[in-house]
Amino acid sequence: MKKIGMLTSGGDCQALNAAMRGVAKALYSKIDDVVIYGFENGYKGLVNGEYRKLKPKDFSGILTVGGTILGTSRLPFKTLSEPGGKETVEKMKKTYSELKLDCLIVLGGNGTHKTANLLSKEGLNVISLPKTIDNDIWGTDMTFGFQSAVDIVTNVFDCIHTTAASHGRVFIVEVMGHKVGWLTLHSGLAGGADIILIPEIPFSTDKLIKTINKREEEGKSFTILAVAEGAKAKKSDKSFEEYCKKNPSNYETVTYSLASFLQEKTKKEVRVTVPGHMQRGGIPCSYDRVLSTSLGATAAELIINKQYGNMVGLVNGRPFPVPLSEVAGKLKEVDPESALVRSSKAMGISFGD
Ligand code: F6P
Repeated sequence: MKKIGMLTSGGDCQALNAAMRGVAKALYSKIDDVVIYGFENGYKGLVNGEYRKLKPKDFSGILTVGGTILGTSRLPFKTLSEPGGKETVEKMKKTYSELKLDCLIVLGGNGTHKTANLLSKEGLNVISLPKTIDNDIWGTDMTFGFQSAVDIVTNVFDCIHTTAASHGRVFIVEVMGHKVGWLTLHSGLAGGADIILIPEIPFSTDKLIKTINKREEEGKSFTILAVAEGAKAKKSDKSFEEYCKKNPSNYETVTYSLASFLQEKTKKEVRVTVPGHMQRGGIPCSYDRVLSTSLGATAAELIINKQYGNMVGLVNGRPFPVPLSEVAGKLKEVDPESALVRSSKAMGISFGD
């Protein structure tokens, strides 16, 4: 008999259920006697011993369902090294050993992988799957959730285009992505943004004003900016720095300050659209269904072969085990010199640099 624990941790995204279904169906079809326990609300379920025994029927009809049937939560990794953190780790180990688990499957993003690696080092058999709309997990070409989010944000740009053009306005669409610009870059390109601002390429507001004014001179009365939530101005951009000091904003990102600054400088009406958590919601796109199913089924193979301590990444287009110790603590950023950035620049998209 094999006993498997499963949990989803961190921010939800599309295709989490599809991935768990991939793992479970592959396990059920290859092993006669397998029991899967689903921990509720991420690592918290493992800490508090909150779980339920899942049955094959729990994995039916969930391929297209967004969110996660197990619930999720964030257990910040740094709390594990703070007072009480050691006890939290011990509780997770206790639940694992009381249930006599053969393996724990965790589906999560960067924070989740740090904890997964720690549990692996503590002697638990862990296998992980890379989920996040941010696509920022090191060791995988792609995370599931990302392409679905790209589709959603692209649709936002399509809608914004018509209203921006009708009113001759400047629009900023603030895109999620945490500290990286993958989602902004891909959706901005797919949605025809004129300016793309990502954390990896700090911007200068002078350049943005020039781009907006140049478009105006060319008879294009509107400009669409795809702005990553983590975008930041260059340190040398003193005029924007001064403006932000004089006009402090309670908003965590640069978006609203940039909007009012650009409105003042260009005398154009500037509007902001923040799709927010919509980007993580709804059904997974077909690409994510395929990716998550294939990574999930490969995770089942790793369980059977006892290849623990790995994340199943997509490496050169194929599911591949990547050691958790290599994944944990690293960030996959957009390379400012990448082909995608270069071809975007080549066709006139400004990155504000
Ligand atoms: O990591 C996914 C993500 O949606 C990021 O893009 C965003 O920065 C963050 O989670 C939002 O977190 P929360 O759901 O806690 O507001």
